[in-house]
Amino acid sequence: MINDLWYKNAVIYCLSVGTYMDANGDGVGDFQGLMRRLDYLHGLGITAIWLMPFQTSPQRDDGYDVSDYYNVDPRYGTLGDFVEFTHGAKQRGIRVIIDLVVNHTSNEHAWFKEARRDPHSKHRDWYVWSKQKPSHAQKGMVFPGVQKSTWSYDEQAHAWYFHRFYDFQPDLNTSHPEVQAEILKIMGFWIQLGVSGFRMDAVPFIIATKGPKVKKPEEQYDMLRSFREFLQWRQGDCIILAEANVLPETDMEYFGSDGDRMHMMFNFQVNQHLFYALAAADTRPLVKAMKATKPRPATAQWGLFLRNHDELDLGRLEEGQRQQVFAAFGSKPEMQLYERGIRRRLAPMLDGDRRRLELAYSLLFTLPGTPVIRYGDELGMGEDLSLPERNCARTPMQWSNEPHGGFTKNAKPAVPVISGGPYGFEHINAAIQRRNPNSLLNWTERIIRMRKEVPEVGWGDFTVIPTRNLAVLVMRYAWRNNWVLFVHNFDAKPHEISFSVGLHNEAERLLVNLLAEEHSYGDEHGKHRLVIEAYGYRWYRVGGLDYLLRRSEIDQGEEAP
Ligand code: NOJ
Repeated sequence: MINDLWYKNAVIYCLSVGTYMDANGDGVGDFQGLMRRLDYLHGLGITAIWLMPFQTSPQRDDGYDVSDYYNVDPRYGTLGDFVEFTHGAKQRGIRVIIDLVVNHTSNEHAWFKEARRDPHSKHRDWYVWSKQKPSHAQKGMVFPGVQKSTWSYDEQAHAWYFHRFYDFQPDLNTSHPEVQAEILKIMGFWIQLGVSGFRMDAVPFIIATKGPKVKKPEEQYDMLRSFREFLQWRQGDCIILAEANVLPETDMEYFGSDGDRMHMMFNFQVNQHLFYALAAADTRPLVKAMKATKPRPATAQWGLFLRNHDELDLGRLEEGQRQQVFAAFGSKPEMQLYERGIRRRLAPMLDGDRRRLELAYSLLFTLPGTPVIRYGDELGMGEDLSLPERNCARTPMQWSNEPHGGFTKNAKPAVPVISGGPYGFEHINAAIQRRNPNSLLNWTERIIRMRKEVPEVGWGDFTVIPTRNLAVLVMRYAWRNNWVLFVHNFDAKPHEISFSVGLHNEAERLLVNLLAEEHSYGDEHGKHRLVIEAYGYRWYRVGGLDYLLRRSEIDQGEEAP
């Protein structure tokens, strides 16, 4: 395969325009501000931006409640500013993917307003109604503890409407051909304005059957193929990255066995088990999750992440595992959310411990897939637990130690910048870290540069190498006659391990360390012995640095020549 599927080996940076940079001084971030920070992002080395919802919205769920799909929310700028932004990104070789939130609209969307008002209107059937209260109205809430039901009564419509999420987010009747056609139209619109793809929100719910009689929704997977086909016709390199927290059994349904559905999916399975491994220094469940999510079509890719804008959902862990993660990273009730997760940022979860942060990021950049990092994590930003629900981890970017972290000139930013304490903007900010060669920011920049020079991770096949040590993970990747090997120690104490690279050739006796002058030389049987410090990590190339001279034009799989 020609390796021009950009998403197979990208570094994606997720940000929200409203909290990145406020250029017009009204206290809310905007596209003008974001544009001024494109050089920062370019310097960091990321290759794509995932932009969170920015369309017109009453902002009751941080923009995941859209009231006009074909406009930019005036707080953030205009369509003109948006096109300037995608153009500016393109000039720097950065792709833009945007959120596509079409499972539901805002209840202030003109379609819903008309649907409520007039039972005979065109848009009535675009939503999901019931004359009586469905018996299962108190089931299936996505935000348990906050959201009370999935059906609400509408006085004006004299009927109940379905909402998988909050009551101000009425579900679209996504099985309706007109709704499906509108979804394609929305995608077509933004493609025309310069985007390279979509992070599709809530995919399992979009494709589920919906209605008052549907007690056990069924997924209509073929819908995914029609989205994909449309995209590929309109613009060949456009992708969909699906948000689908599903079990590995159904992964192939989402990717399509011929790679004809979603290009990418977030790997929630690996995410949750990774946090368990970090909490318990036990890599077994993580390895299991990696193996369970290994099968995928050659054109498909996993999106890997540590933390995102939502809570860290631990719902797929066993009860004992979940309790261990809570105990390690979010033991206080105010740190937990929706009876299943932790709402904190990564740095405070790891006690701001640089060794653990590097370990976590080293894993993110070497596990099989494309890394997705979240704005501010490159600085080790913290959270503000006084803000409700998930808002605690959505505070403004900390640029400098000037007022409000250099985010705005306004005296009252819409969302307060974190100030004071160990994570305050006064000392956690981009300006200070830029000047310090050892800062997390500069470390992140260097690790991104190295990750881009190790395409074996994105393109190759991985093998987990046994070490008889639960706390240490050794992974090998093979691609085009080259091999790389990564070692990670999850434990708070050092470990001595020994392992064979497993290639049975001469090359495997030399492991060249890519990050330090500390190479590993195997014995005559090819066995390597290594003492790895607490939370240590190693990136090795197998056999030497002549790898580019050895790289083959096509992939020959695992075998040595
Ligand atoms: C998933 C998004 O990540 C989350 O932030 C949002 O609240 C729901 N979908 C509803 O759109």
